[in-house]
Amino acid sequence: MEKAIEVKGLKKAFKGKEVLKGVDLEVKRGEIFALLGSNGAGKTTMVRILATLLKLDGGHAAVNGFDVASKPEQVRHAISLTGQFAAVDEVLTGRENLIMIAKLRHLAQPRQVADDLLKRFGLTDAADRKPSTYSGGMRRRLDIALSLVGKPKIIFLDEPTTGLDPEARIEVWKIVKELADGGTTVFLTTQYLEEAEQLADRIAILHEGRIIAGGTLAELKKRFPQAKVEYVEKQPTLEEIFLAIIGKKEAI
Ligand SMILES: Nc1ncnc2c1ncn2[C@@H]1O[C@H](COP(=O)(O)OP(=O)(O)OP(=O)(O)O)[C@@H](O)[C@H]1O
Ligand SMILES: [Mg+2]
Repeated sequence: MEKAIEVKGLKKAFKGKEVLKGVDLEVKRGEIFALLGSNGAGKTTMVRILATLLKLDGGHAAVNGFDVASKPEQVRHAISLTGQFAAVDEVLTGRENLIMIAKLRHLAQPRQVADDLLKRFGLTDAADRKPSTYSGGMRRRLDIALSLVGKPKIIFLDEPTTGLDPEARIEVWKIVKELADGGTTVFLTTQYLEEAEQLADRIAILHEGRIIAGGTLAELKKRFPQAKVEYVEKQPTLEEIFLAIIGKKEAI
C-alpha cells in the first residue's frame, strides 16, 4: 500500500528567496508525523503545499497516493487542515460552525455529525455559545473538531497547541493520540520539542530548507552519545538533540 504522504526534492521560493530547497519525506498510514522547525523554517509553507493551497516550484509531492500538482481535487477529498490560526466563524455558535461545515461537505445528517463531534470534544455545554466566549483550549478543540467533519483520512495540524496553557495542550495531545488510534494519519508541525517527543511516531527536523534529521525519537537519540554525569546516565532530551543538529549547541 502506498504511503500516506510522499515528498521528493520539493522546492519552493517566495520572490526569489528559497524557503524549501529540496525536501524529502515520507509519512506512513496511521502514524503521527511531526515536522519540527524554528520560526520561519518553512513548516506552514510545507503544509500549505501538501494541502494544495500553494503550488510547489520543483520536486514532487503525493498525498493519499495523488499528486498534489495534478490531482488536487482527489488530495482535498482525503485531507483536512487545521491552520496555525483558528478558522472558526465568530458570528455562528460552536454547533452552527460544525453544521455549516457538514453541509458544505454534503453530509447526510449535519446536525447529528455536529452533535457527535461536540460530545467527543467536550463542547456540548458550550455548543450554543459563540466561540468568542470560549477559552483558548476550547477554541482549539472546536477548530480540530471542524477539521474532522467528514472523517478525513489524513489531517494536517499546523502548530496545534501554540499559545495554549499546559492543561489545554495535554487535552489536544489526547485528541491527536485518539485520532491516530482510530487510524487517521496525522501530520503536525510544532516548535515544541516536548510535543514531538510526546506525540510523534516519527519526527523530521526542517532547517535551512532541508530535512536535516529524521526518524523515531529512539533513532534520533541513538545518533548522539549518552552523557554521563557522576555515575548518573543522562539521556539527551529532544531539545538538546534539536539544538545540536541545527548547530546551535555542541553535541552533548
Ligand atoms: N506568501 C508569502 N510570501 C512571501 N514570503 C513568504 C510567504 N509565505 C511564507 N513566506 C516566507 O517563507 C519563510 C517560511 O515561512 P513559514 O510560514 O512556512 O515558516 P514556519 O516554519 O511556518 O514559521 P512559524 O513557526 O513562525 O509558523 C519565511 O521566511 C516567510 O517569511
Ligand atoms: Mg507556521
